[in-house]
Amino acid sequence: MKAMKIFKRLLYAILLPLLFDLLHPLQAQQDQSGFISLDCGLPKDSSYSEPTTKINYISDRPFINTGSSNSISAEYKANLQQQVAFVRSFPQGIRNCYTLNVTKATKYLIRTTFLYGNYDAQNKLPQFDLHLGPNYWDTVNFNSVNSATFKEIIHIPSQDHLQICLVNNNSGTPFISALELRPLENTTYVTTTGSLALAYRLDFGSTTNKSYRYPYDVYDRLWTPYTQKDWTTITTSLTVNHPDAQVDFRPPSIVMSTGVVPLNASAPLEFFWEPLNETKKYYIYMHFAELQQLQSNQSRAFEITLNGKSWFDEPFSPGYLEANSVYSTRASTASNFSFSLVRVNNSTLPPILNALEVYRVIEFLQPETEQDDVDAINNIKSSYGVSRNWQGDPCAPVAFLWSGLNCSYKDSDTPRIISLNLSSSGLTGEIASYISSLTMLQSLDLSNNSLTGPVPAFLSQLQNLRVLKLNGNMLNGSVPAELIERSKSGFLSLSVGDNKDLCASLSCKKKNNVIIPIVSSIGALAVLLTAAAIFIILKRKKKYDMRLGSRLTVQNDSLEPKKCQFTYSDVLKMTNNFERTLGKGGFGTVFYGNIEGTEVAVKMLSSSSVQGYQQFQAEVKLLMKVYHGNLTSLVGYCNEGTNMALIYEYMANGNLESHLSAGDGSQSVLSWEGRLRIALDAAQGLEYLHIGCKPPIIHRDVKTPNILLADNLQAKLADFGLSRIFPTEGGTHVSTVIAGTPGYLDPEYYITNRLNEKSDVYSFGVVLLEIITAEPAISRTQERTHISQWVGHVLADGDIRSLVDPRLEGDFDVNSVWKAVEIAMVCLSSMSIKRPSMNEVVIELKDCLAMELARKNHTPSTDLVASSEMISIDSSTELIYPLAR
Ligand SMILES: *[C@@H]1O[C@H](CO)[C@@H](O)[C@H](O)[C@H]1NC(C)=O
Ligand SMILES: *[C@@H]1O[C@H](CO)[C@@H](O)[C@H](O)[C@H]1NC(C)=O
Ligand SMILES: *[C@@H]1O[C@H](CO)[C@@H](O)[C@H](O)[C@H]1NC(C)=O
Ligand SMILES: *[C@@H]1O[C@H](CO)[C@@H](O)[C@H](O)[C@H]1NC(C)=O
Ligand SMILES: *[C@@H]1O[C@H](CO)[C@@H](O)[C@H](O)[C@H]1NC(C)=O
Ligand SMILES: *[C@@H]1O[C@H](CO)[C@@H](O)[C@H](O)[C@H]1NC(C)=O
Ligand SMILES: *[C@@H]1O[C@H](CO)[C@@H](O)[C@H](O)[C@H]1NC(C)=O
Ligand SMILES: *[C@@H]1O[C@H](CO)[C@@H](O)[C@H](O)[C@H]1NC(C)=O
Ligand SMILES: *[C@@H]1O[C@H](CO)[C@@H](O)[C@H](O)[C@H]1NC(C)=O
Repeated sequence: MKAMKIFKRLLYAILLPLLFDLLHPLQAQQDQSGFISLDCGLPKDSSYSEPTTKINYISDRPFINTGSSNSISAEYKANLQQQVAFVRSFPQGIRNCYTLNVTKATKYLIRTTFLYGNYDAQNKLPQFDLHLGPNYWDTVNFNSVNSATFKEIIHIPSQDHLQICLVNNNSGTPFISALELRPLENTTYVTTTGSLALAYRLDFGSTTNKSYRYPYDVYDRLWTPYTQKDWTTITTSLTVNHPDAQVDFRPPSIVMSTGVVPLNASAPLEFFWEPLNETKKYYIYMHFAELQQLQSNQSRAFEITLNGKSWFDEPFSPGYLEANSVYSTRASTASNFSFSLVRVNNSTLPPILNALEVYRVIEFLQPETEQDDVDAINNIKSSYGVSRNWQGDPCAPVAFLWSGLNCSYKDSDTPRIISLNLSSSGLTGEIASYISSLTMLQSLDLSNNSLTGPVPAFLSQLQNLRVLKLNGNMLNGSVPAELIERSKSGFLSLSVGDNKDLCASLSCKKKNNVIIPIVSSIGALAVLLTAAAIFIILKRKKKYDMRLGSRLTVQNDSLEPKKCQFTYSDVLKMTNNFERTLGKGGFGTVFYGNIEGTEVAVKMLSSSSVQGYQQFQAEVKLLMKVYHGNLTSLVGYCNEGTNMALIYEYMANGNLESHLSAGDGSQSVLSWEGRLRIALDAAQGLEYLHIGCKPPIIHRDVKTPNILLADNLQAKLADFGLSRIFPTEGGTHVSTVIAGTPGYLDPEYYITNRLNEKSDVYSFGVVLLEIITAEPAISRTQERTHISQWVGHVLADGDIRSLVDPRLEGDFDVNSVWKAVEIAMVCLSSMSIKRPSMNEVVIELKDCLAMELARKNHTPSTDLVASSEMISIDSSTELIYPLAR
């Protein structure tokens, strides 16, 4: 007899709309313990009990930080279960991941549901990939706008978290409707290796033509109705029980109470499917129950064959109203799975089949990163508020390795994090203790941040550490002796220069009243020998230091700040004869330059303004010691006659002014959070100049064109300290240049001609209003109104929303904006004593940011809301080993 092609029909059946009817009111509420039921895109903190299934869904928001919530088109919502009404879509990022807390080594049924429903009004069905942790799971595609696609897998997580990722494959925006996890008995669905992706789960001979799931199925498996033309249905109205078997699949009674038998009672019951790839392995589960009460002269017994060979050893007779499961304990492969249930000779009744499950084996070969490393890096991420797109498994697959990390991937071992680079990432607070859990770490780079506090002793416990860069922070105290020893014996490359008050010598311990560690005499000898070696290196280094070309290759640059004097011909070479102009500042023109692949900005000081200033070189050397993550750093300088140049790090994203004023869509609109971060960065740069430097440095030209943005949008102040080189007191023509940016000028300074830090605070207030409103400091209208006057008028009406840059489209925490406006207005007090210090501004801005982050449901990290510690640098401190002198 002809059997119908099952797999074609199946695809159709699986894509049925989510129509599940409850025919009878539920008797008793079943236990949902262990269920994780997420309605993706459901507004934060919402939850409900789905009316038909009574499954309790919650919002997916706690489990993912990215994506946006959308609602499917109203015309498709009718008759569908509630969990598909919202979707979460991921227009940004290649890989977006859910992280779920699970019980390690527990078997889970994991189901993802996707129903497009034209949620984006594009009427275009996307296609994207689904990953389980670091491994490819499946590709999601769609048949129609209102049919659901399910991807289900039975999987045992090896760690106590599970990541489910949607990966954009350039075929449309990934989205998801629901994510469900159901714990299963570990005795069921056992494989020799691999996890089980659902191919078919069929309810044979359904009389209602409906899919069934929870609460009919205690494990919430989804059963799809199926029948063939050469079959007929038999049913019972009685309950089919599950016997007290050791391995109990517990197929639901409503599924088991219908079954099929062949129309021709003497013919076999046949069905088949053709795998898409004959190398694929399958596990097959058949569920039987006798639905007829057999008379003494009746019998039902049949053999089960696969491709003509016996699949189950003996003739099988299902128990009356008792679910019996027949399944393979090993995976099978075939180019054609053709099953026949053949009635045995002395059986009076034809074969019966009630339900069938077919699963395809997926071997997840890429192991997940070691759990301790994952926990540690996630803690580091949240404690520093790292804003990179760190999602999913940190190390795997290699294609999605988190930026700033490097991992070891030895054979089938779990990947380990061996390198962490968070340099120039705007980190604040102390060096996080979580780093000590990254036990395989070989290289740690925290340079050029604003880290405070001591160099913790736990760093010396990292036995594999070969490179440690802490330079360019505000660390204090002394470097742990063990690290110094390891550095001296050549096991560790240690960079600790450019810090607040950090002593990198064994002898500095005394200052802090700490007992000097007793160094054994052999150790001391070694120290002396290596000290001699370092001395030689230093001498040689000095020689090369001044030459372009060798500078970047010198090892161990920690011992000497990376400063450099360049010749005018070097300058010509690096700027390619002043080929590209980046801009014009108060002190001259800025050109693009390149020193052996490192991009720089070269500021040529106009010769008229610098002529005769012998201090130039001394002052520049001082400025080179001023180091902060929110100040553009000076790479070097040129001082040849009238050719004077300052060479700065290159800031890829230009200046803040152009970001705020670009209304032509050429640049993406800065979010409110992004704006607050920029304001905070700039404030911290100023705070450092005012409080961290001795003597304090007054910037004098704080304005949006002088706030530059790195490629990660970290903001840095430019042109600081130039006023030290070109003093205005008793000054000449220069004074008008520096002091002369209308709109930013402190009115009190204008009147009294007495300058102090509070003049910078005034200018910062103007900058902050520009950040909020995206209006210029002085309006371009006829009246030429100052921004503070305009804001004052609008505030008098209490209309804060009309102040804010309309391009933000209301996407901000209104209290956060209020607070920012208040900060700006107090900075703009006409009397300088009424203005806050930059230190106070920083604290208040952190609060603003925390408010906005709270709105976005980030948990504000503690160091973000804690008040910042006072910082100070004494520019006379040299961060060089005393031994090396
Ligand atoms: C997952 O577990 C961790 C550690 O127990 C906990 O900190 C975190 O809040 C949990 N996440 C969710 C979404 O429940
Ligand atoms: C997704 O993209 C990658 C690389 O572009 C490709 O190798 C892979 O086959 C794609 N997957 C699918 C299912 O198209
Ligand atoms: C199932 O779990 C129990 C303990 O919970 C364990 O003893 C047993 O070996 C497990 N069985 C399988 C097949 O994994
Ligand atoms: C069951 O539903 C499918 C799809 O809606 C339909 O094609 C089929 O005719 C229905 N079968 C019965 C017996 O109602
Ligand atoms: C019923 O099946 C038997 C065995 O396959 C076959 O010999 C017989 O011709 C079939 N009868 C009909 C009416 O198809
Ligand atoms: C079947 O799978 C194997 C292994 O994954 C692959 O090498 C082969 O190309 C596949 N064949 C087809 C027809 O897809
Ligand atoms: C079984 O016995 C019943 C009476 O008890 C009789 O009516 C029926 O024909 C018998 N069936 C067979 C297949 O012998
Ligand atoms: C698979 O087996 C069925 C039934 O035995 C048959 O009808 C079908 O043609 C076979 N398919 C292939 C590709 O051989
Ligand atoms: C059918 O025959 C087998 C032996 O071939 C025997 O074991 C079984 O009990 C018989 N069944 C019935 C219902 O007579």
